Amino acid sequence: MTYRIAPSILSADFARLGEEVKNVIAAGADIIHFDVMDNHYVPNLTIGPLVCDAIRPWTDAPIDVHLMVKPVDRIIPDFAKAGANIITFHPEASEHIDRSLGLIKESGCKAGLVFNPATPLHYLDYVMDKIDMILLMSVNPGYGGQSFIAETLVKARQARALIDAYTVKTGREIWLEIDGGVKVDNIAACAAAGVDTFVAGSAIYGQPDYKTVIDQMRAELAKVA
Ligand code: DX5
Ligand code: ZN
Repeated sequence: MTYRIAPSILSADFARLGEEVKNVIAAGADIIHFDVMDNHYVPNLTIGPLVCDAIRPWTDAPIDVHLMVKPVDRIIPDFAKAGANIITFHPEASEHIDRSLGLIKESGCKAGLVFNPATPLHYLDYVMDKIDMILLMSVNPGYGGQSFIAETLVKARQARALIDAYTVKTGREIWLEIDGGVKVDNIAACAAAGVDTFVAGSAIYGQPDYKTVIDQMRAELAKVA
């Protein structure tokens, strides 16, 4: 199993964002997780395509744009132009889920759906061919630094079973990402439940030495693999 660590820059120092992106990748992270909040779909307001464009020159690592905005369609091409590699959105935030997934793919990015703690996986039923990543929220979206909701591990096992059955049938890979309250002490449980991509905001950016935390996370993951 290939494991990927995706620090959320939501907990980074926004006054030094370029360096924060560069440093966390130099410390061993794989992906930059980019949380977009609109004060409408979620009760917080963060960063948009201009900031994505500004950090793009600071790393070659994939930028994983997590849209917590409603509606989603208009903003998708803007993020693609700003250098996003993966774009995910919440099914509740789109009137036409298949169309939104298609827009992401047409703009040249990988596409994914995000599932809130209480959102069922059935939104995947007829769109698996357009999905490159499934993102499971282990907190309610809107803020960094919240506590992990353990029930998400039940959903992770269900999502892993869906992905494995789909991969056997098609040969196509789909990533399973978890987001919210992921720390050194629960990352192994997430991996054991089938997660391969781990978002961590406060756990990494809240510490002075990013490499120490990322190394500890990798050591926990090595126990599972
Ligand atoms: C929450 C965001 C998360 C958040 C995670 O709505 O989607 O990506 O930054 O932060 P931590 O790891 O601190 O829970
Ligand atoms: Zn996120």
